[in-house]
Amino acid sequence: MQEIKERLERDLANAKSAADVEQIRVHYLGRKGCITTLAKGTDFSRFSPEEKKQFGIRLNQLKNFAAEAIQKASQQAGAAAPNKKAPALDLTAPGAGRRLGALHPITLTQMELEDIFQGMGFSVLAGPEVESEYFCFEALNIPHDHPARDMQDTFWLKNNLILRTHTSANQVRTLLRFGAPIRAVFPGRCFRYEAVDPSHENTFYQCEGLVVDENISVANLIAVMKTLLSEVFRRDVKVRLRPGFFPFVEPGFELDLNCLLCGGKGCSTCGDGWIELIPCGLVHPEVLRHGGIDPTRYSGFAFGIGLTRLAMMKYGIRDIRSLNAGDLRFNKQFAVL
Ligand code: DAH
Repeated sequence: MQEIKERLERDLANAKSAADVEQIRVHYLGRKGCITTLAKGTDFSRFSPEEKKQFGIRLNQLKNFAAEAIQKASQQAGAAAPNKKAPALDLTAPGAGRRLGALHPITLTQMELEDIFQGMGFSVLAGPEVESEYFCFEALNIPHDHPARDMQDTFWLKNNLILRTHTSANQVRTLLRFGAPIRAVFPGRCFRYEAVDPSHENTFYQCEGLVVDENISVANLIAVMKTLLSEVFRRDVKVRLRPGFFPFVEPGFELDLNCLLCGGKGCSTCGDGWIELIPCGLVHPEVLRHGGIDPTRYSGFAFGIGLTRLAMMKYGIRDIRSLNAGDLRFNKQFAVL
């Protein structure tokens, strides 16, 4: 054993490369290495039990010594001469590539709307998703027992706040904060206690708009809506107003878009040639008063764009549930950055 140890030390001292060290390892510690097979080649019948024990101890010491010495030598050889087989830097190889995320179709639609509105001089504002009943309902002229509340059941928090059912909750907040004149949109997430199906979700997005100034009329409302829709759909559009009831506007309307698929003749998508698109109206004097605005001096209009619905129309998404499902295969189809 002493002899093997000395030979090993000499061999390692002479080793010039990692490959040399590897050869030495195989020679001493490999499956058929001289240390590995040492016990096999020994005739133990001549040994007393004490001698056998000593042999075992020494052999283990030798193995440990060899393993350590070889490892050290191979580290040194590796540091001194890095593996010659490593490929040289290939400057022509294609890059590793960086994977980019994709913007969600709702984000894309929202960004587009923000751009269009900013082009018309609107500010883009945000308000809280956790809202008080006051801003969500009372300030919008929807008293506690009003049947309009039935359509907007929502999630209640223990502290009596609620998850807002519409972005209209921002109207009075904004008036109180900025006063008149004001021209703003508030895109954001809304919640309702809904049975979920292909066209209903408990979580969805709207983009509210509010304009308050002197002499604002329905004509201003129509002009803004037409400009908006022409830009979103990138062509001239026809719209019409039908009466619609919302407690916070007077008069209130449903703005319909002349169907872009059939040109208004009537088809399976629109039915009679018109698509109900944007509820809107002139801001109710009561709402202005809640916002600290004098309704004898100022008037305004408001509208609530279904951002989720618009994104679905724009991108041909048939099932609203795909939007929140978090399936990357869905999201990546809209990878426009
Ligand atoms: N907040 C209403 C809803 O979610 C939509 C709406 C209707 C908004 C009329 C408006 C409006 O600003 O004028 O059902």
